[in-house]
Amino acid sequence: MKQIYGKIGLISLACLLVWSGMAFAANTPNLAPKKIVVKRGYTKEAAKCVECHADKTPGVVSDWKTSRMANAGVSCYDCHVVEASSLMASQCSGLKGTDIMISPMVSSKTCSRCHPSEVDEFLKSAHADLSRDAVYDEEKAAGKLVGLQLQHEGAGFLGVEPGSLVNEASRTSGCAVCHGSVVEVGPDNKPIKSTWPGGVGTLYPDGSVGNCTVCHTRHGFSIAEARKPEACASCHLGPDHPNIEIYHESKHGQIFLTDGEDWEWESATGTWQPGDYRAPTCAVCHMSGIGELETTHNVADRLKWDLMHKRSEIRSGARGDGEKGDKLMRKVCINCHGPSHTDNTRQMLDSAVALYNTYWDGAVEMKKELAAKGLLGEDPWRDGFQELMYYLWHHTGRRARHGAAMNGPDYAHWHGFFQMFQVYKDMEGIYNWRLENNKIEELSTVMSTGPE
Ligand code: HEC
Ligand code: HEC
Ligand code: HEC
Ligand code: HEC
Ligand code: HEC
Ligand code: HEC
Ligand code: HEC
Ligand code: HEC
Repeated sequence: MKQIYGKIGLISLACLLVWSGMAFAANTPNLAPKKIVVKRGYTKEAAKCVECHADKTPGVVSDWKTSRMANAGVSCYDCHVVEASSLMASQCSGLKGTDIMISPMVSSKTCSRCHPSEVDEFLKSAHADLSRDAVYDEEKAAGKLVGLQLQHEGAGFLGVEPGSLVNEASRTSGCAVCHGSVVEVGPDNKPIKSTWPGGVGTLYPDGSVGNCTVCHTRHGFSIAEARKPEACASCHLGPDHPNIEIYHESKHGQIFLTDGEDWEWESATGTWQPGDYRAPTCAVCHMSGIGELETTHNVADRLKWDLMHKRSEIRSGARGDGEKGDKLMRKVCINCHGPSHTDNTRQMLDSAVALYNTYWDGAVEMKKELAAKGLLGEDPWRDGFQELMYYLWHHTGRRARHGAAMNGPDYAHWHGFFQMFQVYKDMEGIYNWRLENNKIEELSTVMSTGPE
């Protein structure tokens, strides 16, 4: 493991606060600019980055200097300096005239020099390649999603030029910010075309994958932050996967909102246990060590069902091992609940999945028959039946399943199964009408952006 430590000693930073005026009252905030002079510990080159950036980008340096990594002597130099041959190598103005090359892009590959196991687990998870492929892989997405992003949402159908920044704006401002982007660089090796910064599964120009800052934001890189539900909430929300909303509604979330402020968030990994907190956060159930379970950066490890795709199946292959996932998730609950409680809540999820699949299978049968009789519109986004089928699965059906899985009854029912049955009956109405009249109705009956 090659480590480019830009430091020699241990605690290594000496800060000299230069006060421009000393006449402040004791409780008056110090608004004077602070100058940081690094006197010992780092190599001369590494110290220079910090000293100059304390002035040029004080926000970055103030986040970094209180982080655990700063305390351990890991500095700008360790993460941002790259080989001159790197496809991401450039220089900032402060380095002109030196042979030091840097990049503002830092992927999980840099972290893997010092945290190899976290990065390995992460790369095996759906947060890495699968996440980005969902948006960019034309083959895997069968052209459909790429069509959705560029032809429909990107107004290709209104004549917006394919591949233009405007055409890609829906993808770059939405999908890619959560899922990850494919970073493109210009002749100066700096990122272009709004492809950076990207979401969790970002593909970097050197072929490396993954943006660790989505949960450990820069430059604090804290575990306390990643353990809180807010770390997940920037992506896991909204009409199609309202995980944070479900959590806030669940008894666990209510307890977190009531007294989470007083919980112990800083315990070392492997020691963070019930008692430090009273109710689980997203991280406790999906990632953190608890009881006999080890911490994992593969968020699929503890999952049984695939609750996101059109039909819910037990996980296998790239999506994990569902039978094993079931056992591990039970080991989470059992730390705070008895076996009857755990058996009952797990059974409830299995039944909710079976109910969802019943609706979905019925919809598939209707669609097959309409297709065989030539009664499906060519453009699914102008065809009431197909549009509703999308909502049945992607919005109402996900909400019902996620609500049942994560103990949010309002999402399981009112935003979930209640709306599923309504959507289904509307689909049945269109289906019957088309069969009786042997034609497609002229106007889509779906006039909204879908049930909330
Ligand atoms: C532990 C590794 C690490 C250290 C130490 C570190 N950075 Fe970063 N930095 C990152 C990562 C990761 C990103 C996000 C990169 C991405 O999204 O591709 C980043 C992004 C940046 C960016 C671009 C983002 C923006 O908001 O403009 C700047 C500038 C930057 N760092 C400066 C610094 C400076 C200055 C220091 C030293 C005080 C420093 N970094 C220390 C890992 C590090
Ligand atoms: C003498 C001042 C100075 C020194 C020394 C310096 N920088 Fe910079 N750095 C800047 C300034 C100013 C910027 C703003 C962009 C520019 O002018 O290039 C910058 C920008 C950056 C960026 C963002 C680049 C981008 O494209 O957005 C990174 C990353 C960075 N510096 C890292 C470093 C690292 C790592 C070192 C030490 C090896 C370092 N800098 C040394 C002044 C400095
Ligand atoms: C040069 C080695 C090195 C590199 C590169 C590095 N780290 Fe670290 N990191 C450390 C060390 C050492 C610690 C332990 C600090 C301590 O606990 O005192 C640490 C601790 C951490 C922690 C725990 C912080 C906490 O609050 O307990 C996180 C999270 C982390 N690193 C994330 C990252 C990420 C993300 C990257 C890449 C962007 C990265 N590290 C790159 C050496 C490194
Ligand atoms: C930057 C956005 C982002 C953040 C932040 C984020 N996720 Fe995700 N997560 C995603 C995306 C996108 C997917 C879907 C990946 C795919 O295509 O299967 C996903 C999928 C998942 C899955 C399902 C994995 C699978 O194998 O199907 C779990 C569980 C998960 N995330 C948990 C979390 C938790 C817990 C947190 C916070 C600690 C979190 N995520 C933070 C974007 C994010
Ligand atoms: C707010 C963040 C966010 C945005 C924006 C977003 N997604 Fe997602 N997406 C997610 C999360 C989180 C999941 C995982 C849902 C789950 O676990 O049930 C997901 C799941 C998916 C899946 C299923 C997973 C897979 O790998 O098959 C696909 C496909 C997908 N998104 C495509 C897209 C496309 C295409 C766009 C833009 C048109 C988009 N997403 C916009 C966060 C987002
Ligand atoms: C989905 C959110 C998420 C992402 C993405 C993520 N982490 Fe973490 N990370 C966490 C959580 C939560 C913990 C605390 C685990 C615990 O409580 O046991 C953690 C802990 C850590 C630790 C501390 C481990 C220790 O033994 O002290 C390191 C180091 C770390 N992460 C590095 C990384 C690196 C490197 C990446 C990028 C490959 C990354 N993380 C991406 C959520 C995340
Ligand atoms: C009490 C534990 C618990 C908490 C807290 C929790 N989850 Fe879950 N989560 C589960 C269970 C159980 C499942 C379904 C697992 C299975 O398939 O057996 C699940 C499934 C998921 C999935 C996969 C959905 C899919 O489409 O397959 C995602 C994504 C997810 N959770 C994200 C989150 C996020 C984000 C949070 C916090 C806002 C969170 N979870 C809080 C227990 C929890
Ligand atoms: C850190 C402890 C902890 C863990 C881990 C935990 N829970 Fe809970 N859970 C609680 C507490 C505390 C309550 C509130 C009990 C009450 O309402 O009196 C609760 C309440 C619930 C409720 C509300 C119904 C009720 O009155 O009990 C459900 C359902 C639930 N948990 C399911 C789960 C499932 C499923 C898991 C595992 C995936 C899990 N919990 C993991 C602490 C935990």
